[in-house]
Amino acid sequence: MPENRVVRLKILRQDGPKEKSSRRWEEFSVDWHPQMNVISALMEIQKKPVTADGKGVSPVVWDSCCLEEVCGACTMVINGRARQACSALVDKISPDGEPITIAPMSKFPLVRDLIVDRSRMFEDLKHVKAWIDLDGSHELGPGPRQSPENQEEAYPLSRCMTCGCCLEACPQYGQGTTFIGPAAINQVRLFNLHPSGKMHAGERLEALMENGGVADCGKAQNCVEVCPKEIPLVDSIAVVSRQTTKHMLFGWLLK
Ligand code: SF4
Ligand code: SF4
Ligand code: FES
Repeated sequence: MPENRVVRLKILRQDGPKEKSSRRWEEFSVDWHPQMNVISALMEIQKKPVTADGKGVSPVVWDSCCLEEVCGACTMVINGRARQACSALVDKISPDGEPITIAPMSKFPLVRDLIVDRSRMFEDLKHVKAWIDLDGSHELGPGPRQSPENQEEAYPLSRCMTCGCCLEACPQYGQGTTFIGPAAINQVRLFNLHPSGKMHAGERLEALMENGGVADCGKAQNCVEVCPKEIPLVDSIAVVSRQTTKHMLFGWLLK
């Protein structure tokens, strides 16, 4: 790779949530350096916010936190695919110096430039009670034992970082639809598997039996293709669908 290579970026920008008329593509060229990722390219633009044709502009803004594909904050659409900017290596996504296109995710309200508001995902986690209730703050002793098989099933499901890639790819999910999406459904499977979490399994399933619940999945399977944590989302949807059917038929026996 020549040391004097430049990295070309084409970025979709908008000045604020309501400033639709400011929506535009801007092109930038920054110096390449080894191990560069999309965040480090954006940092170069921040240091010198000048477009490829020499126009001074406001610095591009984005969200990030962990810089190691754990928090999900830097998720954006890079070369047409939702992924984390911190793990998108320039040499991999633009091996011959092709321009890299970067846009914000489209399924969430835009805040500015590459920042979107993913609150709906967190509200949906609250809606399905994606946690384990603790009875007070006193010493509870060791929790119930979890079998190795149960742990093996739960671990991959627990890797979700609420990044939103699966929702960006899902044709059923969007700002005009009520479908809760695969990430929250997967969390229901995870918490219903847990020996203590099972106590509230019925409530979680009932949340997914409402409008916008698991029945709205169109089974296109785009979600599982894009999940950066390789979570078996389609399996989770199938498992939770079976649980909701069983709960619908026999749940009243437990009440
Ligand atoms: S399988 Fe369901 S959740 Fe996954 S992308 Fe398709 S419609 Fe969305
Ligand atoms: S399931 Fe995968 S793609 Fe969806 S939010 Fe979680 S980590 Fe991201
Ligand atoms: S900054 Fe946390 S995933 Fe990229």
